Amino acid sequence: MTWKTLDDMDLKGKRVLTRVDVNVPVEAGRVTDATRIERIVPTIADILAKGGSPVLLAHFGRPKGKPDPEMSLRIVLPALEQALGRPVVFAEDPDRAFIDAQAPDAVILVENTRFHPGEEKNDPDLARRFAALGDVYVNDAFSAAHRAHSSTEGVAHLLPSCAGRLMEAELRALEAALTTPDRPVVAVVGGAKVSTKLDLLGNLVRKVNVLVIGGGMANTFLAAKGIDVGKSLAEHDMADTARDILRQAGEASCEIMLPVDVVVAHEFKAGAEARVVPADECPRDAMILDAGPQSVAQIVAAFERAKTLVWNGPLGAFEIEPFDEATNAAANRAAELTAEGRLVSVAGGGDTVAALNKAGAADRFSYVSTAGGAFLEWLEGKTLPGVAALDR
Ligand code: 3PG
Ligand code: MG
Repeated sequence: MTWKTLDDMDLKGKRVLTRVDVNVPVEAGRVTDATRIERIVPTIADILAKGGSPVLLAHFGRPKGKPDPEMSLRIVLPALEQALGRPVVFAEDPDRAFIDAQAPDAVILVENTRFHPGEEKNDPDLARRFAALGDVYVNDAFSAAHRAHSSTEGVAHLLPSCAGRLMEAELRALEAALTTPDRPVVAVVGGAKVSTKLDLLGNLVRKVNVLVIGGGMANTFLAAKGIDVGKSLAEHDMADTARDILRQAGEASCEIMLPVDVVVAHEFKAGAEARVVPADECPRDAMILDAGPQSVAQIVAAFERAKTLVWNGPLGAFEIEPFDEATNAAANRAAELTAEGRLVSVAGGGDTVAALNKAGAADRFSYVSTAGGAFLEWLEGKTLPGVAALDR
């Protein structure tokens, strides 16, 4: 892959159109997790240091092509100013004259790109309107790169373009994890449903040496092997698909690791009475809510043998105690091995970061992606349009 970076660009005196992802969680009008905002700071700082003026383009929520005050980027403005330690000019629907009237070192945030009906259609007219706001285009929104929209894809063809620092870091980490990894590679794939992760499993069995399957998905695999999983969450209509994945794994010499023991309970609620049973002895009226200690031991042993770990999805119903134990224990061992320099660990996608944060392990992983859907599509082996547009 050959994309340019900020180091390849002359930014002096230029308006630098910069696509960022500040699609952060908000409650009662306040940002509750500013991680994505903090992670774009190095890019903005580097653009300013090179004498450029960043003009930030971003989406927020899914307003479906029309303005909606509840999804205005004004909501993230205070958190952005705090992260940058400087004021940011907010621009509702600027033209080039407005941009040029700002100070040469201004940071400008343009209102939600998805307020335009053309954005999600990758409308070329809208891409041209965006392109007119800058002299150079920087894409720093890896987590939105799975969308082929005017601000992520179309505009990249209209200006000299490069990857921002966060985009660079995301791509490097993912390449180190799956494209050119040190082997053996272990992948942990958890979460509720096999049906949402079929392409991902199909791709991973060809790329990794050991695939640990956890969460509700593991129940589907156990059931597909003829094991009675009682009242556990499981997709029984996916049995053939699960068996097909097991067959593909066999052909690719990928070891599939399913739970050997499980934590079962009669109800899914905090402090529910839970006990450990062998994976094939889930009582008829109980459900599997976590992997058991022997399962954790075999997962940890795989981590010890591995050089690279890719982690997506929790091993159990981690939101509620005590069903977070397997995820916590495995994540902490991965974090320790990483801290000891024995493992490269990359995590991302949906619930994963929340689970690793809850385990207190995320900050010791080699890399934690800011991406949800884009991380999954990368694991599926798909080309991300926002990245491909930079690739020339
Ligand atoms: C995300 O939060 O996953 C990205 O910002 C993309 O948002 P989207 O799923 O609404 O396209
Ligand atoms: Mg999403």
